[in-house]
Amino acid sequence: MRTDHANDIADAAPASLTDLIGQRAAVEQVRVALDAAHQDGKKFDHALLVGPPGCGKTQTAKVIAAEMQCEFHEVLGQAVTSPADFNALLLGAKDRDVILIDEAHELEKEFQTALYLACDQRRVFLQSRAKGAPQSIPLADFSLLLATTDEYKLLQPLRDRMKLALRFGFYAEGELVELLRQRSRALRWPLDERVLVPIAARSRGTPRLALRLLQSCRRVARSEAESTILPDHLDRACRLEGIDAVGLGPTEQQYLAFLSGGATRLNVVASRLGLHTRTVAEVTEPFLIRIGLVTKDDQGRRELTAEGREHLSRSRPVSVP
Ligand SMILES: Nc1ncnc2c1ncn2[C@@H]1O[C@H](COP(=O)(O)OP(=O)(O)OP(=O)(O)O)[C@@H](O)[C@H]1O
Ligand SMILES: [Mg+2]
Repeated sequence: MRTDHANDIADAAPASLTDLIGQRAAVEQVRVALDAAHQDGKKFDHALLVGPPGCGKTQTAKVIAAEMQCEFHEVLGQAVTSPADFNALLLGAKDRDVILIDEAHELEKEFQTALYLACDQRRVFLQSRAKGAPQSIPLADFSLLLATTDEYKLLQPLRDRMKLALRFGFYAEGELVELLRQRSRALRWPLDERVLVPIAARSRGTPRLALRLLQSCRRVARSEAESTILPDHLDRACRLEGIDAVGLGPTEQQYLAFLSGGATRLNVVASRLGLHTRTVAEVTEPFLIRIGLVTKDDQGRRELTAEGREHLSRSRPVSVP
């Protein structure tokens, strides 16, 4: 970890396996695979990294590359749009390098197929206009990491080529507190310990959200020419961003308020919120359902649970600038 003074949360990201907080099963799998790779002088095994957004997939891939002391090549699945992109990615890696394809399920099917063929044969095939045998070029013995929020959108044969499946889940509040403490120390951001639990409680079990809120608190503290992050700064940061006590943003609070009128169909809620039904179903609702504020009835209508109604009655009106 970097220890000099910095103002951006990303300036002190974990650099070694021991810096990673939580995710014990995945971290243990990585530790064993790193030991095996070091002992045999080989690459890290190809691996699938699966889990919800912001829970450490990319971070873990970077740590693997750092622990392997090799180069890290990162690309988004949707950024590979031509055979030239695809070949350049694979041909750019040397033996034992780590290639991370983030959002791998966004990789077009033809490249997913080319990828598992490349894994099997350690060669890429070049498109040639000339007639005759297709030209192929040998590949280095790199390690392929595929990160995805939805492994079932990947082609089965590609999934099958991944020797390890590292699964990431949401973090317990205590783990987020530890993560916030670790990051603020590494950044040398002084803070009043009383802010840690409330930040964690507003972060939906997600490191990215916890760190983003810590960054917002720091911004408010600096705007008030304070060096220490205080509970008042957290309060102001939450008011500015319209975040409530369990981390719901303005859209989710509007959604709950709307459901207080009774069970409602998805398309009706979505049009009232001015959002696509898919956005509501995939972005707005999952957390509300996960924490038990909302349920779906047999007809697929959405309604508040008793907890949802209680939450709504407790929460203060949203103040958004
Ligand atoms: N176990 C951990 N220990 C310390 N910091 C972590 C840990 N997991 C994640 N972080 C931090 O949380 C932030 C988000 O993590 P990351 O970018 O790896 O998430 P992701 O799973 O790749 O998300 P996405 O699906 O959106 O790509 C980063 O700043 C990262 O440094
Ligand atoms: Mg990522």
